[in-house]
Amino acid sequence: MSNAVLSINNLQKTYAPNTKALKGVSFDVNKGELVSVIGPSGAGKSTLFRCINRMIEPDQGSSIVFNGLDIVDLNRDNLKNVRKHIGMVFQHYNLVYRLTAIENVLHGRLGYYSTLKGIMGLYSDEDVLKAGELLDLLGLSERKYFKCSNLSGGQKQRVGIARALIQDPTLILCDEPIASLDPQSSKVIMDYLKDITKQMGIPCLVNLHQVEVAINYSDRIIGVSAGSIVFEGTPGEVTEDVIKNIYGAELNDILQK
Ligand SMILES: Nc1ncnc2c1ncn2[C@@H]1O[C@H](COP(=O)(O)OP(=O)(O)O)[C@@H](O)[C@H]1O
Ligand SMILES: [Mg+2]
Repeated sequence: MSNAVLSINNLQKTYAPNTKALKGVSFDVNKGELVSVIGPSGAGKSTLFRCINRMIEPDQGSSIVFNGLDIVDLNRDNLKNVRKHIGMVFQHYNLVYRLTAIENVLHGRLGYYSTLKGIMGLYSDEDVLKAGELLDLLGLSERKYFKCSNLSGGQKQRVGIARALIQDPTLILCDEPIASLDPQSSKVIMDYLKDITKQMGIPCLVNLHQVEVAINYSDRIIGVSAGSIVFEGTPGEVTEDVIKNIYGAELNDILQK
């Protein structure tokens, strides 16, 4: 029996006749796993993440099975339903800065409300309580009613994670979650993502810039180069040759970081 929460098969994305950003990518994300995607700039990592929840449309023939449904085939209504169960965490947080931390967390519930209720901010008492609890869990008890514009980068990202968690997701996708953060805040965020995977049992697929971070935190690492997977294995299997193969000419940049 398969343990896969997400099963990607032959995922292709062509932006223009000469820009094939993904050339047939296949891999699974299983229960209990934190999986990282690494690779040089332009390799196709963000394209991969955006295809998974169809922020961009994959090419015909691609398959992305999530919870037993092929996301590629879904109509708009069913897609909305599936997106409720995929939490997204972004490099630039995507928060509404003039609103408070707790209001931003509640935005994660919007998929569960009618448009009108959502616009009017008519959240249930239960959701408000849950949003507060998640902020407590992420060490933001003192910041619940702060405007997000007044939070540090690391705090903003923790609000972003709380917003993903309140969706009650089956999977969390993080596209460069620590690329805008200092090393200390990055560690805090990665520790939370690891806890979310291991304690809450929600698998995380994370696109990372830093190889060392991927090695320290992942159960499995996927190396992407020029739209194809060129490595898949455990952190222990990431040798110097593997890194050379993934990063090619960008290798010196990576080593200097
Ligand atoms: N909207 C777009 N239109 C055309 N080409 C794009 C678009 N987005 C990305 N690309 C191209 O697709 C390739 C992969 O980009 P991307 O997925 O952003 O890579 P990464 O996240 O690994 O840096 C690059 O060659 C990039 O220039
Ligand atoms: Mg990217």
